[in-house]
Amino acid sequence: MSVSDRAAQAFADRFGAAPEGVWAAPGRVNVIGEHTDYNGGFVLPVAMEHTTRAAVGRRDDGRVAFASLQGDGQVVTLALDELRPGYPEGWAGYPAGVVVGLRERLAGGVNVLVDTDVPVGAGLSSSAALTCSVALALRDLAAPELRPQDLVELARGAENDFVGAPTGILDQSASVLCTAGHALFLDTRDLVSEQVPLDLAAAGLALLVVDSGVAHDHAEGGYGDRRRECEEAAARLGVALLREVDDVSGLAALADGTSQGELLLRRARHIVTENARVLEVVAALRGDADPRTIGPVLTAGHESLRDDFEISIPLLDACVEAAVEAGAHGARMVGGGFGGSAIALVEAAAVDAVTAAVAERFAREGQPAPRTFVTVPSAGARRLA
Ligand code: GLA
Repeated sequence: MSVSDRAAQAFADRFGAAPEGVWAAPGRVNVIGEHTDYNGGFVLPVAMEHTTRAAVGRRDDGRVAFASLQGDGQVVTLALDELRPGYPEGWAGYPAGVVVGLRERLAGGVNVLVDTDVPVGAGLSSSAALTCSVALALRDLAAPELRPQDLVELARGAENDFVGAPTGILDQSASVLCTAGHALFLDTRDLVSEQVPLDLAAAGLALLVVDSGVAHDHAEGGYGDRRRECEEAAARLGVALLREVDDVSGLAALADGTSQGELLLRRARHIVTENARVLEVVAALRGDADPRTIGPVLTAGHESLRDDFEISIPLLDACVEAAVEAGAHGARMVGGGFGGSAIALVEAAAVDAVTAAVAERFAREGQPAPRTFVTVPSAGARRLA
């Protein structure tokens, strides 16, 4: 049975009628450009082949129901006018936030059943896959005028305003806008994007993803701290966004001799150097350069996240080190940080050796073997049925 049929069948089992359609949206890995999005900077994600599928059908009684093939099988059912930020809690808050964003178009309510193979809590944007699959469904059913950028904003609003996770637009943009065979070069300030061809297989390369198994959570903790630190650094420099600083020499004013000034300097230095790394990688991929040359740029990005931005964890540092020692051209942690996944750019012929070296390193650290897989740049959100 196809994944689309599986979702449609499960929907019919739960709700007693066929859905009006089935939609899919992918998770992502970001090649480079981490934590730049809420600073108005550059990002370069690819969509993965892993998706969340949403089977959706409208109701006529003003209620909404959310079911998932993952988790405890409970159907969360409530009146549309009961939905409010933070309620319902848990995974259903994500689709609920999207429904609320289009509330006036959905007065009769809606049934949503989701199924996913995007690893959850792994820094691979399972939440964006969820919100974007539902956003696309609701556009097709109730709001055909919405443009792709509107879907990004609708999905982001669900996370920021409804669930309360203060993310930027990297994940939702990747899930909606990516195309197969390309990385998405996005300027998050000007909202200009370009599809950059990325055919690693043709170059004999593979992008290996390593899920550390250490879950992260954006709704609290360090992610919000980093946002505030970046805002404070920008304010001290007199710019609206750190994106406006082109070169680390423009950060000198942060070094005021205090430990807070030194901390803000390091945070801002990550953003400025990371934006430069995105441009460097895009230039290499646009030109005739061997894609292997981007490897060291990825590793430099990791070091900057580890030392200046301080959002890595020792296990991801060990993972990156082990991958590079085993011959990866470059490797880095991806996503919001404090757990989640790493990527490694490896020779296709070396995938097994690098995977084994990483697993061996995890074992030495006393950790269970990580989940690993090779990902290829895949399609963004789409209708399946
Ligand atoms: C999370 C957020 C994104 C982005 C990344 C870090 O994935 O959802 O908006 O900030 O972290 O690059």
